[in-house]
Amino acid sequence: MQVRLIDLIGVLSRALDLVSRTLGKHHAHVGCMAARIAGRMELSPVMQRDVLLAGMLHDAGAVALHINLESLGFEADIHTHARAGQLLFGNFSGLESVAAIIGEHHTSWAHLADSGMENELALAAAIVNLVDFVDVRLDRTKPYDGQFARVLEAAQREAGGKFNPDCVNVFRDMVAEPDSLSGLFAPEECLCTDAHEQLETIVLNAWEVLGLCGLFAQVIDFRSRFTATHSRGVAIVAQDLARLFNFDVDDRHAMYVAGLLHDIGKLAVPSRLLEKPGKLEEDEFLAVQDHAVVGEYILGGVPGLEKVCEWGTQHHERLDGSGYPLGRSADQLSLGSRIMQVADVFTAITEDRPYRDGMNAEQTANVLRAQVDKGALDPEVVQVLMTHLDDINETRMREQRRAKQEFEAFAEAVHHASLSEIEDNLSSVCIAGGA
Ligand SMILES: [Fe+2]
Ligand SMILES: [Fe+2]
Ligand SMILES: [Fe+2]
Repeated sequence: MQVRLIDLIGVLSRALDLVSRTLGKHHAHVGCMAARIAGRMELSPVMQRDVLLAGMLHDAGAVALHINLESLGFEADIHTHARAGQLLFGNFSGLESVAAIIGEHHTSWAHLADSGMENELALAAAIVNLVDFVDVRLDRTKPYDGQFARVLEAAQREAGGKFNPDCVNVFRDMVAEPDSLSGLFAPEECLCTDAHEQLETIVLNAWEVLGLCGLFAQVIDFRSRFTATHSRGVAIVAQDLARLFNFDVDDRHAMYVAGLLHDIGKLAVPSRLLEKPGKLEEDEFLAVQDHAVVGEYILGGVPGLEKVCEWGTQHHERLDGSGYPLGRSADQLSLGSRIMQVADVFTAITEDRPYRDGMNAEQTANVLRAQVDKGALDPEVVQVLMTHLDDINETRMREQRRAKQEFEAFAEAVHHASLSEIEDNLSSVCIAGGA
C-alpha cells in the first residue's frame, strides 16, 4: 500500500473541516493561505511544505479534546488544543516540525521571538497564527473579498505583539492586490503552491500509512468517551479475519486501515448525538447514519485508498439490503466489506462502554447468529469468527487496552502541558509586572 503524504493529510483535513458548520473549510483555508504567505516570505521549501501541512491540521487537538471550534476564545482552551495537536503528531517521523508549528499556532509573536525557537520555525508558527485569526473572522455567508480590509485592520492593531509585523505586511500586500486572495479559498488553489508541488513527491509506505491513520483514529475516537477505543478494536478484528480468509499482506494492511477510518464520517455528526443517552429521535438517527456517506466523501478518490474506502464506508450495509447508506444487496458487497460489517458488530457488542459491559461469548454468539438467520451478516465470515472466537476476542481486548492506555497517556500529557503553559504565562506576567 502506498499513499502520498499530502493525500493522507488531506483526508484528515477534510474530516476536520466537517466538524464545524460555521467554520466550514477552515483547515483548507488556513493551509492554503499560510502556504501562500510562507512562499512570499521566502521560507525554505521544506518549511513552506510544513506550513501547509500544519495549517491543514492545526486544530486537530481541539477536535480530539472535544473542544468546540467556534468557542476557541478561552485562553486555557487555546493553549491546550495547540499542545494537544503537537502531542498527537509529534512522534510521527517526518512531521516533527509540523507538530512544533501546531503547538505554537496561538503563541504571540512577542513570546515566540523570545522563546529561543528556531527562527524559521517561529515564523512558520506566526504565519499560521495570523492566518487562523483572519479566517475565523470571515463571515461564510458573505463574499470574502469585501471582508479582508476589516480583518487586516484588526491584525494591524496587534502587529508586533500578537502577530509578526512582517507577516502582517505580507498579508496587507495581498489584500491590496485584487487577484492575490480571490479564489484562494477554493482548496484546489492550494494545488498550485510550490509547497503542494513538493509534497506530491512524498509517498508513504504501508507502515507509515498505518502509523498516520492510527493517529487519525485517535482524533476520531478520543472525541467521544463512549467509543474511545472502538476503531482500534474494529481494525484488529477485521485484520484478523482478513488473515483467516487468506488476504495477502497488502490487503490485510488495507483492512486494518479501513477499520481505523471506518467511522471517520462521525466527525461530521454533532457529538451531542453521539453521546445522547437513550433513544435517538428519527431525525437524529438519520443524522448519525449520515456518517457512512460522509466517510465516502472524505475517503473517496484518494489514490491508494480505494479498498480502504470501499470496505470502511460499507460497514453499515447488510446482505439483505436493510443497511445504509445505499441499502446495497449481497451481490454488491465484496468479501472485504462483509468482513468489516462483522468486525464492526462484533466489536460494538463485546467492548465495554461507560454505560454497559460488553457481551459474553454466549450472548455474542446469539446476536451474530440472529443476524445471520435474518440474512443481514455473512454466514461464512460469522462462522470463521465463531471458530476463532476466543483468540480474536483476546486480541481485540489487548488492542483496545493498549488504545485506552494511549488515550490516558495523551490526556495526562495534555494536562501537564497545559499546566506548565499556565505556569509559564503566570511567570511571564510576574516578570513583566516587575514582581
Ligand atoms: Fe487553533
Ligand atoms: Fe483554527
Ligand atoms: Fe459506523
